[in-house]
Amino acid sequence: MCGIFGFIGNRSAAPLLVDGLRRLEYRGYDSSGIVVKNGSLQVHKKVGKVSELSKILPDHIEGNMGIAHTRWATHGGVTDFNAHPHLSEDGNIALVHNGIIDNAKGLRKRLQERGFELSSETDSEALVHMISIGIESGQSPLESVRKTLTRITGTWGLCVLFKEHDLIICARNGSPLILGQGEGESFVASDPHALTQHTQNFFFLEDGDMAILTKDRIEISRLEGGISSTSMTVVEDEWGQADMAGFPHFMLKEIHEQPEALRRCIAGRLDMANGSAKLGGLRLQPLRLRTVPHVRLIGCGTALNACNIGRLAIESLARIPAVAHVASEFRYNDPVINPNAIHFAVSQSGETADTLSAVKEIQLKGGDVHGIINVVGSSIARMCAQGVYIHSGPEQAVASTKAFTNMVASLLLFAIKIGRTRTFSREKGQSIIKDFEKIPELMEKYLSNPGPIDEAVELVKNAKSVLFLGRGLSAPVASEGALKLMEIAYIPCLAYPAGEMKHGPIALLEDGSPVVVILPNDKHRQKTIASMHECRARGARIILIHEEGDDEAAEEADVSIPVPPCNYLLSPLLTVVPTQLIAYRVALELGCDVDRPRNLAKSVTVE
Ligand code: F6R
Repeated sequence: MCGIFGFIGNRSAAPLLVDGLRRLEYRGYDSSGIVVKNGSLQVHKKVGKVSELSKILPDHIEGNMGIAHTRWATHGGVTDFNAHPHLSEDGNIALVHNGIIDNAKGLRKRLQERGFELSSETDSEALVHMISIGIESGQSPLESVRKTLTRITGTWGLCVLFKEHDLIICARNGSPLILGQGEGESFVASDPHALTQHTQNFFFLEDGDMAILTKDRIEISRLEGGISSTSMTVVEDEWGQADMAGFPHFMLKEIHEQPEALRRCIAGRLDMANGSAKLGGLRLQPLRLRTVPHVRLIGCGTALNACNIGRLAIESLARIPAVAHVASEFRYNDPVINPNAIHFAVSQSGETADTLSAVKEIQLKGGDVHGIINVVGSSIARMCAQGVYIHSGPEQAVASTKAFTNMVASLLLFAIKIGRTRTFSREKGQSIIKDFEKIPELMEKYLSNPGPIDEAVELVKNAKSVLFLGRGLSAPVASEGALKLMEIAYIPCLAYPAGEMKHGPIALLEDGSPVVVILPNDKHRQKTIASMHECRARGARIILIHEEGDDEAAEEADVSIPVPPCNYLLSPLLTVVPTQLIAYRVALELGCDVDRPRNLAKSVTVE
């Protein structure tokens, strides 16, 4: 989703801005732009990738300060005019904005009545004109932004550059903004890993914070007045250069990184001696785990699929009710919150607005939320201030892969921990832990010989739709497989618990319809095979993801993809991998942009 990068210092700003935008590219966007101050404010903006913007930039742009933006359209189409930065009419003020201004319609109307000619259809442009009114009436840059923000409702992460002042004004409310302090230079970005190559000294702005950046100083105040309590954090988590390590796409690289990422996630957390898991970031004492009435897990998209696996594992191992919730629905359904319950907010980016607002709702009602998060220091991680970092490392492809497996792994660790406290013996715990330790190696084994993925691709690539089926823990795996194929190859996909298929989706099946069946060797196996038969009887072609050695089931499939045998509880960590590879290869075959699928964003920071 929209990205912001800004710089003020002694170095040439333009190359830094363009590099900053490239680091934000993975978030998903449709246009980009920069403004550099060199006497006047020089704006360049263009629809398309950052490479399109680079093509129209002059060879050399003088100037040591500027701000830049990647836009994901909300108000107004994808056009050069609607791209940010937006300029005031006199060209003396430039603004970039993430978020949504709810009262933009009224503000735009009033500006037009005052004689302003708006050059875009965006909500953001209104802000720059309102700031210019303040400046003309003699207000300081900070005051003009402050007064403007008190007149708007909505969300913002914004930066403003002034021709007459050597500073950048920043403000945050609901859209992340991080400031970085280097030696004689300051930075701002909407994403910490656009900054880590420049400095480790970060200020994570809180909602309601405003800041003045000069090259030597960062001053943070509150929108309502007074000094902010936001202080500097030294971040040591180096996300490194976004390089592909020899892979043609980030998605493929990240699929192959899963064994290593999983090792990082479980390292030091498997407690063999006690047959349990160590999760130091959870503030949950054994007594609390024993008396907790229920567990609720909240997330979106892939994270929601991970939540659904987590809830089944928790319920099964700890014999305690567990429910997964769609984050975007949660707050608006006025949920009843039990302060004794455990809530998990699950998110790769830690910035998803829907999940963030669910966290706020739970906390507002006295509930306790733990984060299951990848990005260290992200908004949700800070807001929860307790939980589990999943340690996947940077995920650059829009389609989530290694974050999914590590979310699942983290939730399974929690299920083991709470289960061990409540229901099962040390021996049973030790046996699961022993199996868990083997999974990274089993993933490697599978990835070194992934089976007939090409044959599956042939069945799927020209299909009108694809049905994914699984039962128990494999039902959310089916959902994840369907989501992946749909989002990067644009093929309509449907995922159903296998037994539910005959209550509706079976009507879609015709001769040649591809059906992907997830069939680990668990208690559901026979029932899932029966559903597979029902599909075959209607002419469907079966792509079966099954346990190695299950020849009886394999013989009935059109394409059989074996994965190494493992404890059924851990099977989602293996069975999901072929679905990721199928999605990747189908998208390639169809000529889709695998890493940056259309219309999607990596970090969805608007509700
Ligand atoms: C799917 C995907 C999205 C995200 C969803 C939540 O591949 O990437 O469905 O999973 O937008 O994002 P996070 O986990 O950052 O909260």
